[in-house]
Amino acid sequence: MAISYEKIPNNVDLENDPKLQRALEQWQPNFLQWWKETGPQGFDGDLIYLRTAVSVEPNGWAHFDYVKMKDYKWGIFLVPPEKERVIPFGDDYGKPIWNEIPGAFRKELRRIIVTQGDTEPASVEQQKLLGKTAPSLYDLRNLFQVNVEEGRHLWAMVYLLHKFFGKDGREEAEDLLTRRSGHSDSPRMLGAFNKPVNDWLAFFCFTTFTDRDGKYQLGALAESAFDPLARSTQFMLTEEAHHLFVGETGVRRVIERAAQLMKEHKTDDVTKYGGISLDVIQKYINEWYSSSLDLFGSEDSSNSANYFANGLKGRWHESKDKSITDHIALEDGAGIEVFDNEGNKKRQTIPVRRAMNLFLRNSYMEDCDRVLERWNKVLEDEAIHYQMTLPSDRFNRAQGIYGNMPFDPEGNLLTREEYDKCVGKFLPTESDYKYVQSLMKPVYELGKIAGWIAPPLRGINGNPFEFAYVKFSHDK
Ligand SMILES: [Fe+2]
Ligand SMILES: [Fe+2]
Repeated sequence: MAISYEKIPNNVDLENDPKLQRALEQWQPNFLQWWKETGPQGFDGDLIYLRTAVSVEPNGWAHFDYVKMKDYKWGIFLVPPEKERVIPFGDDYGKPIWNEIPGAFRKELRRIIVTQGDTEPASVEQQKLLGKTAPSLYDLRNLFQVNVEEGRHLWAMVYLLHKFFGKDGREEAEDLLTRRSGHSDSPRMLGAFNKPVNDWLAFFCFTTFTDRDGKYQLGALAESAFDPLARSTQFMLTEEAHHLFVGETGVRRVIERAAQLMKEHKTDDVTKYGGISLDVIQKYINEWYSSSLDLFGSEDSSNSANYFANGLKGRWHESKDKSITDHIALEDGAGIEVFDNEGNKKRQTIPVRRAMNLFLRNSYMEDCDRVLERWNKVLEDEAIHYQMTLPSDRFNRAQGIYGNMPFDPEGNLLTREEYDKCVGKFLPTESDYKYVQSLMKPVYELGKIAGWIAPPLRGINGNPFEFAYVKFSHDK
């Protein structure tokens, strides 16, 4: 079956690359089958007000129109090449960037691209049932926007695999459609992408914290010496910004609604009034922030040193951040706190290149701090004396130097017994999940919204909140 190339908007000259066309022609029907099985369930015939990238120009990447999701045009876009770009870090600092893959780094680059690629379909799978319980048409549309763009991000990575990695790449591209989030035999590659996202508060936390990990991974790859990867991830970042917006404003609106109900009914426990209490929101934050920190990998990592030395993966804004002056990074050490088996803390210095995961995670954590400040502003404005916090980076970790140790959210080491006794105060309990689940009833009426969340400040693309963001083909 031939692909109609006008159906795949692209700026990679797909029309004149028969080899790549053949590879994509074999992959595309499998992608569509995957989308049907694991993408949003139950909205096939409906018209969604979606943004589609039709070019990378400022006026082209955000083209809004009503489309059916299965007809969405998943395009392949790279930002235009930067003139005379040189490798911005590592052993080959200052040398020309690569447009082909050097044989020596083939394996590492494939691993990097596959690991990034695997997260994109995973999140679609995690969110596949959320459309059935959307709190408003506005939110329903935002969910689908995130979903189709994660689909496009998969295309972006599959393009690289097909174009540059031959048979190996084609096999990896197939495997990206075979693994499934949360599957016992064939799960997705990274922990947070196998966790269930069963309610909208989890979705908003996921898009705040887990998509934000994506932002930092993509940012590190946007520095890569392998220019097609750098240009591809740079364009993905423009779309990722919307996902982060959906997450941050989503949680903000849940907090705002809780605060309103607290004031109105003069109580902290807003569950009686159909809201989600601040302490439950805090537990969700603890959960998703900690599992997203795990995505950065080990603080002391030989892989990350390798990736940095070879110019494959840099730091956040490596080439833009003026405060980074040493792009070779061989001189210094990075101090980290480690714990021995008895829980005694000591300071250890590791070579700076081995600490690249930690640097990227620190950039991420600073960004999350700013998000929390904005959420807390809502509470301040409502004169509620409660502050949301981020847990310590030691809390609830499965990876790295704090992995599987019983720290509380303040970062104090507890005994396993103490931890088990308190865990219901740190992380959502079964009954928290059950309560939140009980609120998950769809609100599909134009301009209406569920009672547990405040409406957004404004709508999408200059439209009001009361706008038909989804037009159903028949009654739901
Ligand atoms: Fe993505
Ligand atoms: Fe995303």
